[in-house]
Amino acid sequence: MIDIKIGKFAGFCFGVKRAIELVDETLDNETGKIYSIGPVIHNEKVLERLEKKGLKIVDKSEVDKLKDSVVIIRSHGIERDIYQKLVQNNNKIVDCTCPFVKKIHNLVEKYAKEGKYIVVIGDREHAEVKAIISYANNDISVVGSEEDINGLKIPENQEIVVLFQTTSNIEKSKKYVDILTNLFYNKCLVVNTICNATIDRQKEVDELSKNVNSMIIIGSNNSSNTRKLYEVAKNNCDNTYLINDVSELTKININNDQVIGVSAGASTPDDLIEEIVTNARTKF
Ligand code: F3S
Repeated sequence: MIDIKIGKFAGFCFGVKRAIELVDETLDNETGKIYSIGPVIHNEKVLERLEKKGLKIVDKSEVDKLKDSVVIIRSHGIERDIYQKLVQNNNKIVDCTCPFVKKIHNLVEKYAKEGKYIVVIGDREHAEVKAIISYANNDISVVGSEEDINGLKIPENQEIVVLFQTTSNIEKSKKYVDILTNLFYNKCLVVNTICNATIDRQKEVDELSKNVNSMIIIGSNNSSNTRKLYEVAKNNCDNTYLINDVSELTKININNDQVIGVSAGASTPDDLIEEIVTNARTKF
């Protein structure tokens, strides 16, 4: 008989819940085409439902074509110049940027104005980070590895502020902060902007994965916070699987006397977690 332990922080976070509610409300109440610049959240099933309801997802390269329309800004936020362009073109903006991400935009603007050099710990290819760095006019770098830190070229007397992508891996971030503060010890201010939802979830997965035989992380492979959960669990538990659909249970090899831990990314809906857990109970 398998024993399944589900993390209490698994599934939608505050920012994703808020974004989905705002999008649903907009689709229910607005007439005409409703656009979102990029996917509102990183979960295919949720997006499929919203597209069926009428949401049209467009690439940010198409922003010039959006005029007098309703445009949704996703939870990861968007680059400042794109936002400004949407306003100029008389679009009605429904801003679903998570308030914790918005707070980082404001910090970047503030520190850039004060002439500080900003270092963002995160993934420079991620939409959230691209938006964050757009709020500084210059003097900003993204670091996602020790090599990136070694390659930093910061003017001798400039003060440094370190900020974080909201979903950064906590342990790796601590390591990077140690290196940065050693290198720039007398001029480095660290402002922790990893969000609480990320901290709670990663801590829980770290604990859970030390005490089970297998871990299942539910969520999309293109969701940054889901992949981080996978990394954290895999570090403690070799039998860690990342799945996004009940059909993927077939690739999991579990004996029927095991303890299985389950967690899910911030953009994974509750009904998907429930479906996978229910099927796992009958399958194993
Ligand atoms: Fe916001 Fe944190 Fe979720 S930044 S979107 S509450 S993971």
